[in-house]
Amino acid sequence: MDLAAFTAALPKCELHLHLEGTLEPELKLELARRNGVDIGQRTVEEVRATYAFDSLASFLAVYYPAMDVLVTRRDFHDLAMAYFRKAASQNVLHAEVFFDPQVHVARGVPFADVVGGYHDAVLQAQRELGLSAALILCIVRDMPVESAEAVIEAVMGFREEVVGIGLDSDERGNPPARFAHLFARARAAGFKLTAHCDVDQEDSTEHLRQVLEDIRVDRIDHGTNVVDDPRLLQLLRERGTGLTCCPISNSFVTDDSKAPVIAQLLRSGVRVTVNSDDPAYFGGYVTENLIALTRQAGLGPDELIQLQRNAIEISWADEEVRERFLGELDAYEALAAPDL
Ligand code: ADE
Ligand code: ZN
Repeated sequence: MDLAAFTAALPKCELHLHLEGTLEPELKLELARRNGVDIGQRTVEEVRATYAFDSLASFLAVYYPAMDVLVTRRDFHDLAMAYFRKAASQNVLHAEVFFDPQVHVARGVPFADVVGGYHDAVLQAQRELGLSAALILCIVRDMPVESAEAVIEAVMGFREEVVGIGLDSDERGNPPARFAHLFARARAAGFKLTAHCDVDQEDSTEHLRQVLEDIRVDRIDHGTNVVDDPRLLQLLRERGTGLTCCPISNSFVTDDSKAPVIAQLLRSGVRVTVNSDDPAYFGGYVTENLIALTRQAGLGPDELIQLQRNAIEISWADEEVRERFLGELDAYEALAAPDL
């Protein structure tokens, strides 16, 4: 067995995946047809030709308009179910997935249809694929604070369907502190908290400080710029706060996958994980991200196992899911690692 085959069959946990970022061109075209939305492209090749990014802002300029094809509860279900099938095919056993309701609500889609459609797929994935999944509502940080307040109010009626609250979209000029009151409210209501601190952003260190010291998130999405500040790195270590890294996405929104930094953090005991972010746009699901990091940083099988151990430890899965996952990982290590 080679390392790529070992990686493909490895039991996995995905923690940084935007459901709207899994909209493959084929499904986008089908939903556009189904809903009579003119998207200006007629073939898969024409859709793919629009996927050219060199910054977070240029990516988001393509990403948000693409969501117009999502209209009905069934559309949200179909999008999530297509992702869960793909994830199961890559041996993902547990997935915690983001969604951006503010964007849909602003287009007139009822909040309950967004959450309801995605939750229908979570239940179906559990039933049909044995995949455990949970939803994380992301605050879209470059939309008005009032629109974030409205979805946080709305999600209070969906405690069973949504496990946590995150923060995504364009970080420039949109510090986490602006949403501190909403994070505090969400925590008091029992939601877990995470926030994007994208790579190499303006004011990266201050944004990391706010999420660690002021908001006290449970984990951080991306967050590798923590190495720029020894004090914050120490705090991250003391708390055991995990980072959900996405090497292929990094190489699109900056010119660097950050593989050496991710590997350095992993080797120094920080709970880093590897994930896929927006796989339909960046061309890699979790297996491809793990293979990319393995090639670029020279990871071994024990480090690939450690990444999955980190992921389930920082996940918000039930105890039963965690134990089953760790059991499968131990069995896989015993069976497959000696063959390498
Ligand atoms: N929304 C979808 N993908 C994102 C990313 N990588 N960073 C910030 N917001 C996002
Ligand atoms: Zn992301």
